Amino acid sequence: MKVIAVLGSPKENGFSSTLAREVLRGVADAGHQVVIYEINKMNVKGCQGCRYCKENNVDCIIQDDLKPYWKDLHECGALLVSSPNYAAQVCGPMITFMNRHYCLLDKNWKVRVHAGIKLIGVFSQGNGNPETYVAQYNWYLGDFQNRAMVLVDKLIHTGNQLLTSDCELMRCAYSIGKNL
Ligand SMILES: Cc1cc2nc3c(=O)[nH]c(=O)nc-3n(C[C@H](O)[C@H](O)[C@H](O)COP(=O)(O)O)c2cc1C
Repeated sequence: MKVIAVLGSPKENGFSSTLAREVLRGVADAGHQVVIYEINKMNVKGCQGCRYCKENNVDCIIQDDLKPYWKDLHECGALLVSSPNYAAQVCGPMITFMNRHYCLLDKNWKVRVHAGIKLIGVFSQGNGNPETYVAQYNWYLGDFQNRAMVLVDKLIHTGNQLLTSDCELMRCAYSIGKNL
């Protein structure tokens, strides 16, 4: 199975990316193929609202670094999205990325990607209470669920807690990947 990960933190070894990569270590150990997109290193434009996708029943035609992503998405069995929390929400580039999935609904609002892509959300926030931004994370993941993806798990790292290789969150991350 192909598993796509879209990492949102500008910090390569930030908390959310570290946790996401631990999920992916499990995914790789389970024998799956991993494709990683690091949004901070990519040129990704916002949805232009042109509706070309709707009128022509195609993936987004913007010629930017998301171009190979659409093919991967149609081939994948799972999608992992990770993000730091900026200003009480998923970070801006990840929202820009999410908006581009407008093309996955046709003009009759029918989903035009295969149903059942497994979805994993990984988030990191300074606030120590994991409940504080759950509504925001659910809103974000909901856009993918509205495209017939199935939420497998959501990991929330809080309060700058150190992510040691044997801590509970990292063990949980690995096992989500391994059992995907
Ligand atoms: C611009 C900015 C805004 C932030 N806003 C919030 C916030 O509203 N609530 C919060 O809990 N943490 C906030 N943080 C803290 C980050 O979410 C936290 O440091 C997180 O662990 C970073 O994740 P990363 O290491 O994966 O990049 C903010 C950090 C930055 C840089």
